[in-house]
Amino acid sequence: GAIGAASLGLSIGTGTGAAVETGEASAWTREHANSIELTDGLTAPVIDENSDVISDDYWIWDTWPLRYRDGSIAKINGWQVVFSLTASKELVPGARHNEATIRYFYSRNGHDWTEGGTAFENPLGHHQWAGSAMYDQEEDQIYHFYTATSPEPEFRQRLALGKGASLETGPRSVNLVGDQEHVIMAEADGELYQTLEQSRDEGIVYAFRDPWYFEHPETGEDLVVFEGNTPTGGENPDDPQSYNGNVGVAQATNDELTDWELLPPNLEAIEVNQQLERPHYVFQDGKWYLFVLSHEFTFAPGLWGPDALYGFVADSLYGDYEPLNGSGLVIANPEAAPFQGYSWLAMPQGNDVLVESFENFRGLDDTSRGEISLDEVGALPDEEQKELFGGTLAPSLKVQLDGTETRVIAELNDGHFIPSGGSPNRNGNGRGR
Ligand code: FRU
Repeated sequence: GAIGAASLGLSIGTGTGAAVETGEASAWTREHANSIELTDGLTAPVIDENSDVISDDYWIWDTWPLRYRDGSIAKINGWQVVFSLTASKELVPGARHNEATIRYFYSRNGHDWTEGGTAFENPLGHHQWAGSAMYDQEEDQIYHFYTATSPEPEFRQRLALGKGASLETGPRSVNLVGDQEHVIMAEADGELYQTLEQSRDEGIVYAFRDPWYFEHPETGEDLVVFEGNTPTGGENPDDPQSYNGNVGVAQATNDELTDWELLPPNLEAIEVNQQLERPHYVFQDGKWYLFVLSHEFTFAPGLWGPDALYGFVADSLYGDYEPLNGSGLVIANPEAAPFQGYSWLAMPQGNDVLVESFENFRGLDDTSRGEISLDEVGALPDEEQKELFGGTLAPSLKVQLDGTETRVIAELNDGHFIPSGGSPNRNGNGRGR
């Protein structure tokens, strides 16, 4: 069924003795999505054409900071590190997904980034998609969660972990050192999470990816949320049941974080949207703010929403998630540049959140009004396609969270800023261990 074990309220035991209380997945409903409205507080400013480029050689898109176990941004001997999906600028933007390589960048001030190199020597998968990175200070090692993806046109996805690397910092540079071991954490099981095979009739995109590590703020259990689909038996792209995005949950069952158990999804968008991408949490005032990204083209028939950051809030992992601002919309691209940014990542900064993203296709107008639509980009000459694509970090945005309401309050004029360490990710949440 559409909800499966999620509706049984199972409590699944783990090897480490801890048991996460699971529950029914909350629903992002058609009614919520029908109330999406691009108001000022929920819309990004148009990105200034002159924002600077971080790499001359590589397109950069999904990006995530190295964080400590407690979720705060790591600052190691004054250095911050981010990881990005990258691909050669010789490729047209549409070809980059099939060649994605994770590279790292380092900075002393959180906005001037220097390229370090590749994150892995021999990762799993033909190429690697988004993830998250945790640095354990006592062990002096990085746990790097990522998506091991198979080549086009299949795009089979598995959740993977690379561990063993650490950082050597000097006065001028940061080096990723050490041999890494890679393991598969989880694959789609066909019951809680749709397999690639089960998705074939739907005729749209498929997801089992983007593991985001976090420590349970009260119990300290090791968890990831990820982007999945619920098996609904959708039969074609016109069938609303083919739109079955969910936020998946998995829990580590050993201290080495090499064994994981799939738990039921905690949020589903059945008949609403096919992709709840790069799910991640911000914990504030005892509240669990769950953010996801989604595209205009993955909304179910009869619904419209922009390429945007969406968010939900509850008081626990399997709580009753309420869409922020009534609809779920948190930051939409502006109507004048509906594809200018994507892959927003919200990080706590004081009482607000700072949202990082990348520059996607500028200069494209809305499909209904524009001269060039997103679908037409791939037919342009290579150089023209490249000119339209940003492929670099976008100016970060500051967003105020106030219960179930949010507001964009500033665009940072020093651009693509990642907040520095020292702002723990658990305002107001007591620790259980
Ligand atoms: C979001 C995303 C991720 C995925 C990557 C693939 O921009 O779709 O979900 O890991 O891009 O390039």
